[in-house]
Amino acid sequence: MRAVTWQGPEHVSVEDAPDPIIQQPTDAVIRVTSTAICGSDLHLYEVLGPFMTPGDVIGHEPMGIVEEIGAGVTHVRPGDRVVVPFTISCGRCTMCEQALPSQCETTQVTEYGTGAALLGYSKLYGQVPGGQAEYLRVPHADYGLMKVGTELPDENYLFLSDILPTAWQAVQYAGVPEHRTLVVLGLGPVGQFSARIGRHLGARVFGVDPVPERRALAERYGIEVFDLSEGTVGEIREETQGRGPDAVLDAVGMEAEDSPVGGLAQTLVGKLPDVVARPLMEHAGVDRLAALHTALDLVRRGGTVSLAGVYGGAASPMPLLTMFDKQLQLRMGQCNVRSWTDELLPLVEDPADPLGVGDLVTHRLPLEEAAVGYDLFQKKHDGCIKVVLDPTIVPAPTIAPTPTIAPTQTH
Ligand SMILES: NC(=O)c1ccc[n+]([C@@H]2O[C@H](COP(=O)([O-])OP(=O)(O)OC[C@H]3O[C@@H](n4cnc5c(N)ncnc54)[C@H](O)[C@@H]3O)[C@@H](O)[C@H]2O)c1
Ligand SMILES: [Zn+2]
Ligand SMILES: [Zn+2]
Repeated sequence: MRAVTWQGPEHVSVEDAPDPIIQQPTDAVIRVTSTAICGSDLHLYEVLGPFMTPGDVIGHEPMGIVEEIGAGVTHVRPGDRVVVPFTISCGRCTMCEQALPSQCETTQVTEYGTGAALLGYSKLYGQVPGGQAEYLRVPHADYGLMKVGTELPDENYLFLSDILPTAWQAVQYAGVPEHRTLVVLGLGPVGQFSARIGRHLGARVFGVDPVPERRALAERYGIEVFDLSEGTVGEIREETQGRGPDAVLDAVGMEAEDSPVGGLAQTLVGKLPDVVARPLMEHAGVDRLAALHTALDLVRRGGTVSLAGVYGGAASPMPLLTMFDKQLQLRMGQCNVRSWTDELLPLVEDPADPLGVGDLVTHRLPLEEAAVGYDLFQKKHDGCIKVVLDPTIVPAPTIAPTPTIAPTQTH
């Protein structure tokens, strides 16, 4: 089959990879019909290289049609249309029973001391082949796979795999609707959904992002938007009686703009050989912390900071004096996808589309053009907000340039 593979920092390519097969009774194999690129893929693309091996198949936001099931998978049949959660969880262990499948004790990656294994997400999360491919083996499909209807387009369902439950969880962790004012830092796909969900649940929502197209999209959903200029924190404070908002949701993560120290550290570590870089990142890694520090500064006393954005630094400095003195609550974590999807399903099927699931994707490209998709999404060129790769589109053949005939010289 064809699959998107990590080849090196900022280098992905579509290659031939082995067709997945059923390995365990709880596995399924699906034929992928849509598979999105996530902000978390950009972390692999940019800073998590030391935990990747060239040839790793990446991607963790897929959906498709069941091809084959193991004997232990009984809730779906070949031919069913399904969405795959990015977290691989058993559904039965103590953590899964407590609605924390992203901490699943059956799939935890003990070698690195991390939580549940994830699709296509580096050695840190089990080095499981991912879903930006024609076919995907889904481990623990008996719990994970979500069967969905056949009438609506893929985009209605696709985001149940990751960014929609991620945003939902982050807004719940932010304490909305009890908390009435919410700032969302970062208006990428996760931030867009977080802001819309905040509004849907009745909060007044402010959104911050340096990219004009992303602010414009959020504005259409009733979000009050701000750029990343120096005055932003003061302006939002003014709008919230000088106190700051009840909650701030960080949908930026470890590669925030405006973070000179962490940025330099990440760049330097990224240039070291993996054997040196890996332990450095595990024990002394520093994130680009501008968004997180803005969140801690901006939130009101006694308020909540909710992190959807991923952080990976083992030694990132935190302003504990401020956090303690302001009596803040901090909630975070990988999304517990299947704990939220039953609640979200009616919203994505609602013809009124209350969360705008049909209004996020800016680029749908053939799988073969994955490298173009990664580049557009990373650089935010061409108004790019969300890219979906489609393995069923056969790319148009490249038309050979018409030979130019040199003009005849006349004297
Ligand atoms: N917790 C989870 O389970 C989970 C799941 C999916 C994604 N994520 C994480 O969520 C984050 C966002 O993902 P995305 O797909 O929306 O990615 P993205 O990269 O498109 O979005 C990040 C946005 O933040 C903006 N930004 C950069 N620096 C900023 C700053 N200092 N202040 C305000 N905005 C700033 C960028 O312009 C961009 O629009 C990533 O860290 C991703 O890894 C977490
Ligand atoms: Zn993701
Ligand atoms: Zn489990």
